[in-house]
Amino acid sequence: MRILLIGSGGREHALAWKIAQSPKCGKLYAAPGSDGMARIAEPVNIKADDIDGLLEFARTKKIDLTVVGPEAPLVAGIADLFRDKGLRIFGPTKECARLEGSKAFSKELMKRLGVPTADFKIFDKHSEALKYLESRGVPVVIKADGLAAGKGVMVCKSMDEAVAALQAIMIDRSFGNSGDKVIIEDCLNGEEASIIVVSDGKNVVPLASSQDHKRAFDGDKGPNTGGMGAYSPGPVVTVAVARDIMERVIDPVIRGMSAEGKPYTGALYAGIMMTDKGPYVLEFNVRFGDPETQAILPRMKSDLVELMERSCDGALGGYSLEWDPRPCVSVVVASGGYPGNFIKGMEINGLDRASGMRDVVVFHAGTRSGRRDVDAQGLFVTSGGRVLNVTALGGDYRAAINNCYEAVRLINFDKMHYRTDIAYRAIKG
Ligand code: AMP
Ligand code: GLY
Repeated sequence: MRILLIGSGGREHALAWKIAQSPKCGKLYAAPGSDGMARIAEPVNIKADDIDGLLEFARTKKIDLTVVGPEAPLVAGIADLFRDKGLRIFGPTKECARLEGSKAFSKELMKRLGVPTADFKIFDKHSEALKYLESRGVPVVIKADGLAAGKGVMVCKSMDEAVAALQAIMIDRSFGNSGDKVIIEDCLNGEEASIIVVSDGKNVVPLASSQDHKRAFDGDKGPNTGGMGAYSPGPVVTVAVARDIMERVIDPVIRGMSAEGKPYTGALYAGIMMTDKGPYVLEFNVRFGDPETQAILPRMKSDLVELMERSCDGALGGYSLEWDPRPCVSVVVASGGYPGNFIKGMEINGLDRASGMRDVVVFHAGTRSGRRDVDAQGLFVTSGGRVLNVTALGGDYRAAINNCYEAVRLINFDKMHYRTDIAYRAIKG
């Protein structure tokens, strides 16, 4: 098969790594891909949001399956466009992608379907939002409606913070049109977990559970980031909790969307808060999680390409996945300063030694080749905030954590930053 993967980050490197292992995979392209994955996925110089360019490429190269990594092309309607032209693509339609593209859409759907989520109100006028805020008080969570690269959610402990959040979203337009509407919702407490499933519109196959760490510094302190590390399985997701989430969250959404004439295909990610009243949904994403995917896929024994084909073909009924029982931990190695300002172009040392370790795989999230010749051994420099996802399996959580940090310590570049406590909750007590 000829497969096209869209995207360029650590999640996409992990997807490419797993796709390339499939006996079904003949040729793998990645648009735009990256130097770090170039040996397994031929880079194509088309941006992930150039959906017409991608369509043209897929038609010319007779691509059998297109896999979409990030949300933006899905929200822009790439799946509809490809399907209209008879091309197979893994991912939801534009209408379904609103589950991530519009938090108002997603919250209203959950309310309609009785899916547990924080109580909320939606506003499109700043004055009304402010009035409501003043009457309800803090703590409160304020969210921009549209896509905001993970930055549009503000958990506000004080009224000053909440007023500033409304100002940033609705008046200063820090997230552009994504701030046309704002969601003001109750603040939930608990441990977070990520549940990713794959659907064919009717049937659902869950992936292994995972948990991630969003804050920049140890002890879950500091600013929110795109994610500083993840581990799978998520210990908080016991068998009973997993069943509960399937029954109360995933099944109603898949059934409800189908009943409303919008069958959901592709990966569906539910961000869950484990409250004392059970699992509550924080958000839906219409794609694989990043960095959760990096910690999940090394545990998947089944063929990812077959899973995706079955999702496209409505053939997931009776299908299930096999998993390596060993836990997996993925640590994000970032540029110093991330998620704020950072310097790029730092030479990365020790990659080969780290990647050569048993049960370790290093995914590239933000690197580029330091030489023109991509095949030239070894030399990579930093090119993003999140640089590498160092990932390791182990016999238990402690062993996975130790393997992972042993690999991380072999790597160095100027101003390198990483958290030293990824998966600490899995070994506490
Ligand atoms: P979201 O993009 O909606 O998942 O929000 C990003 C992060 O903000 C989540 O992973 C939570 O840590 C936090 N968050 C979102 N909604 C709430 C809520 N209602 N209560 C507490 N924390 C929240
Ligand atoms: N790890 C959170 C996300 O993928 O949005």
